Amino acid sequence: MCLLTCFLLVIVAVVYVIQTVTKPKNFPPGPKWYPIFGSSAFVQKMAKKYGSQWKGLSHIAKEYSTKVLGIKLGSEPIVVVFGENNIRRVFTEKEFEGRPDSFFIKLRCLGKRMGITFADGTLWREHRQFTVKHLKNVGFGKTAMEAEIQNEMQSILKYISEHKNKSFSPKHILATSVINILWKFTAGERIKEERLKFLLDLLKARSEAFSMAGGWLNQWPWIRFFMPQRSGFTLIKKMNQQISDIIEESIMKHKQNITARRDFIYSFLEEMKENKETFTEEQLKVICLDILIAGSQTTSNVLEFALLKVLRDKNIQEKIYNEIFNTIGHNMPSWTDTSRLVYTMAFLSEIQRYFTIVPIAGPRRALDNIHMDGYVIPKDTTILISVGDVHFDPNVWEEPEKFMPERFIDSKGNLKNVEHMYPFGSGRRRCPGDSLAKSFIFIVFVGIMQRFRIECSNGVLPSEKPIIGLISSARPYTAEFISRQ
Ligand code: HEM
Repeated sequence: MCLLTCFLLVIVAVVYVIQTVTKPKNFPPGPKWYPIFGSSAFVQKMAKKYGSQWKGLSHIAKEYSTKVLGIKLGSEPIVVVFGENNIRRVFTEKEFEGRPDSFFIKLRCLGKRMGITFADGTLWREHRQFTVKHLKNVGFGKTAMEAEIQNEMQSILKYISEHKNKSFSPKHILATSVINILWKFTAGERIKEERLKFLLDLLKARSEAFSMAGGWLNQWPWIRFFMPQRSGFTLIKKMNQQISDIIEESIMKHKQNITARRDFIYSFLEEMKENKETFTEEQLKVICLDILIAGSQTTSNVLEFALLKVLRDKNIQEKIYNEIFNTIGHNMPSWTDTSRLVYTMAFLSEIQRYFTIVPIAGPRRALDNIHMDGYVIPKDTTILISVGDVHFDPNVWEEPEKFMPERFIDSKGNLKNVEHMYPFGSGRRRCPGDSLAKSFIFIVFVGIMQRFRIECSNGVLPSEKPIIGLISSARPYTAEFISRQ
């Protein structure tokens, strides 16, 4: 009897091993799969060698001479898509519109796949549409939101004035301002200072600890029982709790009618009265979480890179200052100035190419078996989109490794409407916060450049090599802001 049990166990183990190491028919090429680990060890080795998961994957794809790379992280088959034609397909075709139903994603959504970022199907469509309608009222040139951004810019300038001629890092003030704008749109108020610092630290730790594929926690969810700290489980739990507290407190205030009435939470609570099925408090909480997570560090990181670049390049800094001074003088910057501040706009576009904030977009889930470059991506496979590679593709860009704002200006001196740029993705899952982010980045950057010259602290030139985790961030640096008046 005992012998028979052992024999059956061995058979089951052999079948399991064969199944886990066998690739589906015509699966995209990539490294070998091993039991339990898949190709994780190799992917990790390459990520370490080349400095980030994005660069590591890009090198693996080159080794296999493919633009559709097949890997397996833990037990999850993943396809990484490269090249403009392929990434365009993923961004725009309906079959790529899903989001994976993984442990990490459920954890990020407070237990169930909800909200916008990680929902799909009708829930995603209905709630994305509702949120986009509200974001439309606050984007480009919309006076109410522009006034809020200008107010936030004044707070940043005040902070800088209080620290002028001293070395300091702009990180904290930029991140604080972005969260305040996002929370103003969402909840009609600012987040309390003591909560904000804690929240910012958690968001930073999260983006450095995880990759777009979710990391260890996604590959082996059981790891949380043995390594709750190292796997990032404690971090995500802490962050969920902290953000939930902030959101719950605000929902309570709205219910008691003690907040202004034009914000997102107010509109959502109104909608809940009419549409009880999907408009629930749980869903509202996860959408608020989506907005804070997707919108905060992405936006402030662009500004940090922009200030770092002008700090490193005096010629570019003076060119931008002169353009601003000769065009709008000391006037308050506004989105309507973008058509006249051509070099400044070109510079900000080049920042978003050269320091692609989301070098690997997604994750997506194939809603059907899909053919790409002669391979088959099986239904339900997770798909990652290598936007960073398109932004550095020598077939698309002249000297892509060179920082050159001029590539965005045509021979007549006008801004070029450049294709091949995907900082906000494309298609039906394109970033719904792009107009808010672009307005904020432009107004705050022009406001700072108008009033301050930025110099190195103690003559030390900070490195521009980014830290690439879930998103790209500048290495911590300090600068001196010298008043121009
Ligand atoms: C410079 C700043 C930003 C960058 C670079 C950025 C980038 C992106 C990218 C590339 C995507 C597409 C992911 C995909 O195709 O699967 C995305 C989606 C998203 N972004 Fe942004 N984003 C920024 C700012 C914001 C802001 C300010 C908000 C909120 C107001 C926001 C909210 C979202 C949401 C909710 C999604 C998910 C959309 C969906 O799945 O339908 N983002 N973002």
